Amino acid sequence: MAKRYKVLIGGAWTGDNCPGIDVINPFDDSVIGVVPEASLTDVEEAIVAAQAGFAAMAALPAHRRAEILTRTSELILRDREEIAEIIAREAGKSWKFALGEADRSAETFAFAAIEARSTHGELVPMDASPVSAGRFGFYLRTPIGIIGAITPFNFPLNLVAHKVAPAIAAGNSVILKPATKTPLSSIKLAELMEEAGLPAGALNVVIGSGRVVGNRLVEDDRLAMITFTGSPPVGVEIKSRSGLKRVTLELGSNSPTIIDADADIDAAVARCVVGSFANSGQVCISVQRIFVHQSRYDEFLQKFVAATGKLKVGDPMDKQSDIGPMISREELDRIVGWLDEAKSLGAKVETGGTVIGNCLTPTVLSGVTPSMKVVCSEVFAPIVTVMSCETFEQALEMADDSVYGLQAGVYTNDINKAFQAIRRLDVGGVIINDIPTFRVDHMPYGGNKQSGLGREGVRYAMEEMTNIKMVCFNL
Ligand code: SIN
Repeated sequence: MAKRYKVLIGGAWTGDNCPGIDVINPFDDSVIGVVPEASLTDVEEAIVAAQAGFAAMAALPAHRRAEILTRTSELILRDREEIAEIIAREAGKSWKFALGEADRSAETFAFAAIEARSTHGELVPMDASPVSAGRFGFYLRTPIGIIGAITPFNFPLNLVAHKVAPAIAAGNSVILKPATKTPLSSIKLAELMEEAGLPAGALNVVIGSGRVVGNRLVEDDRLAMITFTGSPPVGVEIKSRSGLKRVTLELGSNSPTIIDADADIDAAVARCVVGSFANSGQVCISVQRIFVHQSRYDEFLQKFVAATGKLKVGDPMDKQSDIGPMISREELDRIVGWLDEAKSLGAKVETGGTVIGNCLTPTVLSGVTPSMKVVCSEVFAPIVTVMSCETFEQALEMADDSVYGLQAGVYTNDINKAFQAIRRLDVGGVIINDIPTFRVDHMPYGGNKQSGLGREGVRYAMEEMTNIKMVCFNL
């Protein structure tokens, strides 16, 4: 019998009387827990609790917020193995990457503690204009209010941390709606934050569908902001329903990696294998399109295919496993359809392409064209495409030929080409001599074009989660 969980609302663990949602291990389809499905009444309760939570948070001095965040970070590290197991079981993320996610989450909270202590406004030079000379001006950063955080399955703890930690650091309260497929990491986080001394109502968890629970949060005027990570269509819908709320959207990508003629191919191969297949490619900045200079194409492809073939597909709980399942059968079916389409249009499967249980073996495609779904849409699966380019300029042009613009990786040892890429690519981050999948949790992170709106990375998320209040003295 799977464990029945409760959720935290207004400082109380509730949900006994709600209908249950089964949480399924995507590797073996076993039920690993049952969580309460929120009704609209439960959402209302969470909003009222978050109002009280906001009052409590706004009254907490920065050093107390920092202490709670530091303690949360310590508690995550204390329980890192238990957390890794939760992530591996509910998200199907291989153990080593699940443990890495637990550690990253601890660091995200540690960074938030630093930012809670150091965030400040600044002086405004009022004498810059003859009209205001003689006045004295400065601005404060004030918390924005209740933040609705809607989070995805692929990083069930760290992408929650990226919303909750900066919100709390800035003095806000949060209503968290985690992905219904991966709510257990969020429940664990709520337990730890409560243990760390978070005031009642500062973090409230509601679980349910986007259509019911999500829309209710998005449309309620008592919430000041929605921060969402997920797919572009849902992001667009959130923006259109959210009225005057502030909205941060972290959406998808078909991230490019450019490998120029002078690149260190062995280094690029080693990193592209990780960036293409970690978490079965279910990462917004997963390597999806690799553009290799024609003079190194054969060498790169041969070494990349060989390295990919060594990856171990299997149970995420197996510490040796590199690749786990797709999050659901529907996702597996979708991606097999995309693969079939690519093959029917002339793509060649260099390795992989086989379904084992709920897993797709890591797949490298050549012979692809820009209009194939595996190239132009976000694949979100262990599939990567490799294309040959005549020149660096052509690689830049092809890399930028996308509706997305999250991060790009560029392997070159020519500083002028590096700057050419930085200027040319319409993306939120250019990573030189590494893959687009590179991310540490204090750097600004977010996309241009259909990849999103606003930035995360603790300090940058806090800028989105605060208001500027100008103060001017007429002396
Ligand atoms: C994402 O998939 O958007 C997050 C990637 C990461 O944090 O590494």
